[in-house]
Order: sequence, then C-alpha cells, then structure tokens
Amino acid sequence: MSWSAPFPAKHRTEQAPGPKGMIGKHILWALVAAGVALAGGELLAQDPKTAQGVAPPYRQSFGDLMTMAIQPRHVKLGLAGQQRNWAYAAYELRELQGAFRRLGQAVPVYHSTDMTALIEATTAAPIDDVAGAIKSADAAKFTEAYAALTATCNACHQSTDHAAVVIQVPHASSFPDQDFSPQRP
Ligand code: HEC
Repeated sequence: MSWSAPFPAKHRTEQAPGPKGMIGKHILWALVAAGVALAGGELLAQDPKTAQGVAPPYRQSFGDLMTMAIQPRHVKLGLAGQQRNWAYAAYELRELQGAFRRLGQAVPVYHSTDMTALIEATTAAPIDDVAGAIKSADAAKFTEAYAALTATCNACHQSTDHAAVVIQVPHASSFPDQDFSPQRP
C-alpha cells in the first residue's frame, strides 16, 4: 500500500525535518491526510478539501477489512453449511479465501508482522478441510472443519494482540434478506 500516491510530488519534498523510519513517516502522512498543518509550532485544523484540493480517499484499516470482507463471509459460510447448502457454501468459501488473499495484498505488513505469510500459515489448512467437507457433502465433517477454521480466527487474534476479538460459530443469521437453504433446480 502506497502512502504517497494520492499526494502531489511537491508535498513529498516538504517532509523534512521529521522522524526517520516508517513509523515517523506514517505519522507525518497521517497528519497530512487528516488535514492538520504544523505552523509556527501550532496545530491548525484545516478542511482537507481546502488543503489538498480534493478530499483524501478513505483508507480501510485492517479492522475495517476484517469487519467488511471477512466476518460476513465467515457467518454466511457457517449458515450455509448448517443448512447443507453445499453449492452456496462452496461459493462462499471461495469468496472468503479470496478476501483473505486480497487482505494480505492490501496490508502486507501489520505492526511489523508479515500478514501475507501469517494469513497463509493460519488459514490455508482449515480452508482446505472445509473445502473437503463441502465436496463430500458431509455435514459432520463440515461442522468439525468449520469449528477449526473459527478457532484459527481466534488463534490469529490472540497472536496479534487482539485476544478480545472472539469469533464463534453463528447461531442466527444477521442477513434477513438472504436465504441460505439449498435451492431446488
Ligand atoms: C492472520 C491473522 C488473522 C486471521 C486469520 C483472522 N483475523 Fe480477524 N483480525 C486480525 C487482526 C490483527 C485484527 C485487528 C485489526 C485492527 O483492529 O487493527 C482483526 C480484527 C477482526 C475483527 C474486527 C473486530 C471488531 O469487532 O471490529 C473481526 C470481526 C475479525 N477480525 C474477524 C475475523 C474472522 C471471522 C476470522 C476468521 C474467518 C478472522 N478474523 C481471522 C487478524 C486476523
């Protein structure tokens, strides 16, 4: 992810003097993005539109992406499996897998952790097991594999200092407009 892309080159030459290294640079860009100008030792809040000509693009945090791209698909996959809707479960598992892949590409490093590698290391095997259960239309195997996938969510949260984020097997649908039961052709 590039922090400098939306800003014209002239702003980049105005960075110094600033703290060296990635963290310092990120803080600086965060201030620029927030439309805060450092002037004469004072912090002056400015409308980002006035400061940049255009409002800075909305950048999703890792937590945003988890909430938007991962969590709903984990729920939908679970509900589909509970209803033995294998066609939809297969589709939704691919969606979840793709979302994890894009997440690793969008945020390759999170708090100095190699996220692309961590996502692969934690999710690849349980996703394979869920895929196997779906392929063989085996409800008991699905329940077991889905529970293992869910445990992986929590293992990663614990290892990345987010033990408070606890994921469980869904017991109810949070999508009242979607039917998760198998469709007859
Ligand atoms: C590779 C590690 C990793 C895996 C695997 C992972 N997560 Fe996360 N998740 C995180 C991190 C790190 C955060 C904290 C992000 C932040 O807030 O900066 C997070 C945050 C979340 C949040 C946001 C919490 C909130 O309430 O706003 C949800 C929801 C979530 N994860 C769901 C899941 C689900 C569901 C799975 C499994 C299908 C999963 N995560 C797998 C690393 C992971």
